Amino acid sequence: MHHGLEKSSLSSAAARNTLLFGTGLCTSDLLSQPLTRAILRDCSIVTPEYELKWDAICRDPDLPDYSAADQLMSFASDNNLAVHGHTLWWHEAVPPLLGTSSEDQFRDAALDHLRATMTRYAGQLHSWDVVNEPLEPADGRADGLRVTPFLSAFGPDYIETAFRQASALDPKAVLVLNEMGLEYASPTAERKRRQMLALLEREKTRGTPIACLGIQSHLTALEQPRDHPDLRAFLREVRAMGLSVMITELDVSDHLCPQDRRQRDALVAETYRAYLDLAFEEADVLAVSTWGLSDDRTWLNSFRPRPDGAPQRPLLLDRAVRRKPAWHAVRDALLNGRRAGARIQ
Ligand code: G3I
Repeated sequence: MHHGLEKSSLSSAAARNTLLFGTGLCTSDLLSQPLTRAILRDCSIVTPEYELKWDAICRDPDLPDYSAADQLMSFASDNNLAVHGHTLWWHEAVPPLLGTSSEDQFRDAALDHLRATMTRYAGQLHSWDVVNEPLEPADGRADGLRVTPFLSAFGPDYIETAFRQASALDPKAVLVLNEMGLEYASPTAERKRRQMLALLEREKTRGTPIACLGIQSHLTALEQPRDHPDLRAFLREVRAMGLSVMITELDVSDHLCPQDRRQRDALVAETYRAYLDLAFEEADVLAVSTWGLSDDRTWLNSFRPRPDGAPQRPLLLDRAVRRKPAWHAVRDALLNGRRAGARIQ
């Protein structure tokens, strides 16, 4: 029998399998009492969704502003929450003014930002997305690397450079390479999984201190397959390399689902459950974080609007911060998650 606490809190259910459960959040979320209460009840780790990004800190490149990030760090430490840092180098979070700088200027600015940020919070974070979304098969490179200002300025060694700097500045933090689109059942996703394995092998050979693969896990109900042999094989190879995994930005878009709320919520819940069951069976998962807790604020409303115009219902709590079937599905998956390696042979 599960004790009451584990049934009523995602962080307690996660703790039963030595896992952390959390969410992405912004300082604006903390203005909502019900949402803050839900975060404190259900989460043991939080990820700044935007305010720890380079472009958010360096709106004015000459005057980095860490006030919002500091507020999130204080909220976490006051409430004994771990923090997953997101993200140091990401091509979509480069301060606009730097987009037109010389490669020398860009290199200096990118290293300054990484050093200043890692130094400011050294010892205070559970983990860091040091580099986010390094792969883009469509860019046509043999190594699959995305063509970004980091690649142009540093060359393919930019990943090694970032991780070595990060490791020197915060030896305690779990250093994560975070990627999107590794979860899907498409030829493109399979190509990206192969390129990710080759990248991880190359970096491992160089001694790049990547400890963990971040799998964003932005899923779509009625598209994400219930079972997924290619993903299972991929996760097994990641584990065989000695790498742990963090599920970093989990949500389930319902844009393909019928309008009926009960049907949508059931399809979304099933998608969460099947995906987490598979991940726990095949990977050494450290933490599961959803990208928001309540349907009241999700990036999917702008990124994946439903054809019928109804607001998306991709998360675990509804807009009134009440539990949905997805909350129960995730709680059950966390409670029952078989740990890879502990799998009954
Ligand atoms: O809050 C500021 C506002 O003060 C300012 O006036 C305005 C000016 O543009 O920006 C507002 O910030 C917005 C921020 O979200 C906070 O809501 C930014 O415009 C907007 O670009 C930002 O979008 C975030 C996006 O990453 C880009 O950073 C989304 O919230 C966030 O969900 C999304 O998350 C990404 C992950 O980092 C990486 N993986 C994909 C995922 C979804 O795109």
